[in-house]
Amino acid sequence: MRVHTILTSAIFLLLASLPSPARSASVVRRSTLCRGDSIAVEDASGDVLVSPSGNFSCGFYKVATNAYTLAVWFARSADATVAWTANRDAPVNGKGSRAVFRRTDGSLVLQDFDGHVSWMTNTSGTPADRVMLLDTGNLVVSDAGGSILWQSFDWPTDTLLPYQPITRYKRLVSASAKGLPYSGYYNFYFDSNNILNLIYDGPEVSSNYWPDPFKQWWQNNRTAYNSSRYGSLDRYGAFTASDHTWFNASDVGDAGVMRRLTLDYDGNLRLYSLDDVDGTWHATWVALPRQCDVHGICGPYGVCSYLPELACSCPEGFVPSDASDWSKGCRRREFYDVRCGEPVYFAEMPGFDFWGFDFNYTPGLTMETCRKICLDDRDCQAFGYRMGTGECYPKITLWNGRAPDIVKQNIFLKVPTRIKGLKPAVLEFHGHACTVHERNATSVGSSYFEHVRGNKINFVYFYSFLAAAFVVEAIFIAVGYLFVFRADPAPSGRDEEG
Ligand SMILES: *[C@@H]1O[C@H](CO)[C@@H](O)[C@H](O)[C@H]1NC(C)=O
Ligand SMILES: *[C@@H]1O[C@H](CO)[C@@H](O)[C@H](O)[C@H]1NC(C)=O
Ligand SMILES: *[C@@H]1O[C@H](CO)[C@@H](O)[C@H](O)[C@H]1NC(C)=O
Ligand SMILES: *[C@@H]1O[C@H](CO)[C@@H](O)[C@H](O)[C@H]1NC(C)=O
Ligand SMILES: *[C@@H]1O[C@H](CO)[C@@H](O)[C@H](O)[C@H]1NC(C)=O
Ligand SMILES: *[C@@H]1O[C@H](CO)[C@@H](O)[C@H](O)[C@H]1NC(C)=O
Repeated sequence: MRVHTILTSAIFLLLASLPSPARSASVVRRSTLCRGDSIAVEDASGDVLVSPSGNFSCGFYKVATNAYTLAVWFARSADATVAWTANRDAPVNGKGSRAVFRRTDGSLVLQDFDGHVSWMTNTSGTPADRVMLLDTGNLVVSDAGGSILWQSFDWPTDTLLPYQPITRYKRLVSASAKGLPYSGYYNFYFDSNNILNLIYDGPEVSSNYWPDPFKQWWQNNRTAYNSSRYGSLDRYGAFTASDHTWFNASDVGDAGVMRRLTLDYDGNLRLYSLDDVDGTWHATWVALPRQCDVHGICGPYGVCSYLPELACSCPEGFVPSDASDWSKGCRRREFYDVRCGEPVYFAEMPGFDFWGFDFNYTPGLTMETCRKICLDDRDCQAFGYRMGTGECYPKITLWNGRAPDIVKQNIFLKVPTRIKGLKPAVLEFHGHACTVHERNATSVGSSYFEHVRGNKINFVYFYSFLAAAFVVEAIFIAVGYLFVFRADPAPSGRDEEG
């Protein structure tokens, strides 16, 4: 009996250490919270709100050991894909945190272990009567008559659901890495011209990359004259917006499919359909079929190419700034500053492009004139030059690098003469951009949370605990299997209490 108890606890711990909420037989199925009701983080695996049709769940979602968010997820997707997160940049502790629909003031409040309110709906002082998870995936606070006082559809994170509009006041913000909830640098929003845009909005630079930034809005089949700024996906898989942006899912017309439009952590906007049978997602539309067209993915001086897998590399003479995070790009192997007035020469990168950050643009120049413009400007780091048309693009910084596919132009990089014979067209230090970003939010050591205070993860601590966590998980899995093969199926923590 004692062995049974130990094994059951082991299973429970194993379940509790999985990155997504475990679904077990003892799930409390309710779709409504009344005033005074609450959900404790300790019941994360069992106590969730479920929409009436069972397609969505809402509750505590584990992002790492001891780090939880309040989230709405697709109940039928194999990995419980999150559609909305309340506190994406401020997860709460795995012990003592609670989501409370306060009896006193009618706000739904997320309290951390120390009582600190990390997030709340601003419905204090309203006649708020209940919190409901609707079949659409919308979490709403409504009054007794059913009027909506607050809804999660007004606070999107990185995903739009069918009939959840994107408007003037809402934008999608990507996650910072696969499986991590934290806000990243990519945004999907209506710009001041009323056009839906994708932008890389990083700490150093920002640049738009969809629709085609080379073209004017009318050339992209958009209109700037409808200022209503409204776009939405319907249940048949068609997206339309006031700026004439429209696209259809490849399975358009099928209304029985669960869909989501997500601005992924890699900066691409994708429409997905859920496969009912195995619970996996299939992309049915993508904004940028070529991932290297997404800006910012390889950071400063980084070059994006397909080798044939998508990869970031550094030009010869440069080394990765952080080999574990290619979005930080490359830095010079031998430090120099072109602004210091040393003698310089220009090293050629045939067929390459570093998109944007031109401080000037002049067509019809000879290469010598273009070279002189860059030479004479101390801030000029390089210039792009297009043979034939003589287009000259002196550049103030080098981002959005792309290796040659169709030779369009050449880049000439300013290099001090003391660095001899540099061949920046030779790419070094290849790293796979995607695998780098695809670090799973695996559960980590329990002291992890201590270092999450504030908004950002301290990745030094984060990764040093990963190794330990793997070992611990391996032990749990081994013990878990032992138990599964010996005893009756699917016990849970809740059964254990009874
Ligand atoms: C509630 O109001 C505060 C302060 O105005 C604001 O920062 C916060 O984003 C609001 N939260 C929600 C969920 O409305
Ligand atoms: C705009 O629409 C026209 C006609 O449908 C099409 O031929 C063209 O390729 C579209 N342009 C872009 C940039 O999508
Ligand atoms: C502007 O866009 C909205 C939403 O798509 C649409 O209902 C409306 O008719 C448009 N207005 C004009 C003048 O095209
Ligand atoms: C997109 O789907 C809608 C139906 O939802 C259809 O009316 C429209 O013609 C489709 N557009 C294209 C280009 O397939
Ligand atoms: C729930 O999902 C099933 C299939 O996954 C679908 O047939 C049904 O229409 C969905 N319900 C709602 C309300 O969207
Ligand atoms: C992330 O998890 C998936 C399955 O959950 C696994 O296949 C993949 O190898 C993991 N990636 C990393 C980098 O650990």
